[in-house]
Amino acid sequence: MERIPEPELMDGAEQALAYAQADFEEPNSRFVETFVERFGEPEGTMLDLGCGPADIPLRFARRAPGLTVTAMDGAAEMISLGARALSREPELAGRVQLVCSTLQRLELPAASYDAVVSNSLLHHLAEPGPFWQAVRRYARPGAAVLVMDLSRPESAVAAQSIVDTYAAEEPAILREDFYNSLCAAFTPEEVRAQLEAAGLGALAVEAASDRHWIVSGRLHGVGG
Ligand SMILES: C[S@@+](CC[C@H](N)C(=O)[O-])C[C@H]1O[C@@H](n2cnc3c(N)ncnc32)[C@H](O)[C@@H]1O
Repeated sequence: MERIPEPELMDGAEQALAYAQADFEEPNSRFVETFVERFGEPEGTMLDLGCGPADIPLRFARRAPGLTVTAMDGAAEMISLGARALSREPELAGRVQLVCSTLQRLELPAASYDAVVSNSLLHHLAEPGPFWQAVRRYARPGAAVLVMDLSRPESAVAAQSIVDTYAAEEPAILREDFYNSLCAAFTPEEVRAQLEAAGLGALAVEAASDRHWIVSGRLHGVGG
């Protein structure tokens, strides 16, 4: 099916809250485990692009006492939910920095992060280029990169069937978000072409499930 882009930012109060309250225990802990399996325990500095309510960066910070995480999102609602979650764990406050900025306007120190991660941001973007440019810009040489996102199914019927299989018990607003996200997602083949175009051909892309792909690898210098 043709890609149907969705709005970039999740800036609606109701939408952001529903997302923050959803149970992402399994996929978010799997994201962290996948990072550790591929790259070892994280340390140094990590950048999370499109962090949402900051559940994943808080998991990394909790797990790795030697890690400082910069977590960015363009939606003020999401960053404020992240700040609320962080305030409940004051022991992490010195190691987690929340930045409210769109990807397109982001200004952080270039080539300075030991790891760049992102979960489920890419499919929100009208154009994928700025996302991969940010990965390339902010990762230092040798940095670990882990990106996961949804994979667009072959048809609207297949997308609905995935929603019915995996989100039957979720509130309607989340089921609708999930369906729209599947329709907006890129396929692994499209992502492969994006990586080549961005000079990130050293990163590998693989299908990870019936509805996800993973990009991972280390950047060995400018251009991967
Ligand atoms: C599906 S959520 C994923 C959140 C988080 N990574 C997670 O796994 O729970 C996607 C996030 O990307 C953010 N986003 C979308 N477009 C963006 C952009 N252009 N710049 C920055 N953030 C963006 C949205 O506001 C939203 O919080």
